[in-house]
Amino acid sequence: MEHRVTPEIRVFATLSGATSALARHLCAGALEATRARGRFAWVLAGGHTPEALYRRLSDRYAHRFPWAQTEVYFGDERCVSPRSSQSNYAMARASLLRHVPVPRPSIHRFRGELRPPSRAVAEYARLLGPLPTQRDRGHALFDSVLLGIGPDGHTASLFPGGAALHERRRTVVAVPRSGQPPFVPRLSLTLPALASSREVVFLVGGAEKAEAISSIFRSLPQGTMTRPASLVRSQGPTRWFLDRAAAALLPGAGASAR
Ligand code: 6PG
Repeated sequence: MEHRVTPEIRVFATLSGATSALARHLCAGALEATRARGRFAWVLAGGHTPEALYRRLSDRYAHRFPWAQTEVYFGDERCVSPRSSQSNYAMARASLLRHVPVPRPSIHRFRGELRPPSRAVAEYARLLGPLPTQRDRGHALFDSVLLGIGPDGHTASLFPGGAALHERRRTVVAVPRSGQPPFVPRLSLTLPALASSREVVFLVGGAEKAEAISSIFRSLPQGTMTRPASLVRSQGPTRWFLDRAAAALLPGAGASAR
């Protein structure tokens, strides 16, 4: 499967500006996917950065976004209760999913509460099915994958130097040790699963991410295991929506902010 590497970078004066632009982009993409294929398979990011995006979508896009045709997946989850404040599902439910009419059977959360975590891995892998092969040209598991990055350049729950970075066949893995807070075991989509997408979009803000952003782009087109986000590919574009603080160490970043 051909994977593109050249990233599309958009830098905004503020994270709020990046969030507004990304909400518009996602709504347009969801409508296009729904027109073309009758559904929009969307992978949500965890952490804190996307909360404002989810709130904006549930507020300003309540009636424009094709929620009824949207299938929601998660890039990763913490091995905690779905009611825990550490749960990515809980964050997405509070900021988006309880406010918009995505059919409940179309909301596919990792069951992070299952023990051992391998049960949740097997369940989610069954849900996704096998990775499309070369024969399935044009088929992708996801229409759009939303990701964030940590200050260490991790994304989803793929941490620097982690064994999960070497996974080439499976779509989902358990990550026993998290490299960043919260230090709980995780569940994560793998690089091949993230690559089975029509686009990947990163939303990144804040000065604490600037060094990671700089080293990610310096490492392209190969990418580096020390910055897992640099290894993420898509069948379509890889887009970066950055605020000026996160882009501060990129060449010429100040000039391009919108
Ligand atoms: C998680 C996320 C993780 C997140 C980054 C950035 O489970 O923590 O999936 O990959 O996107 O850690 O988190 P912030 O948006 O909170 O900085």
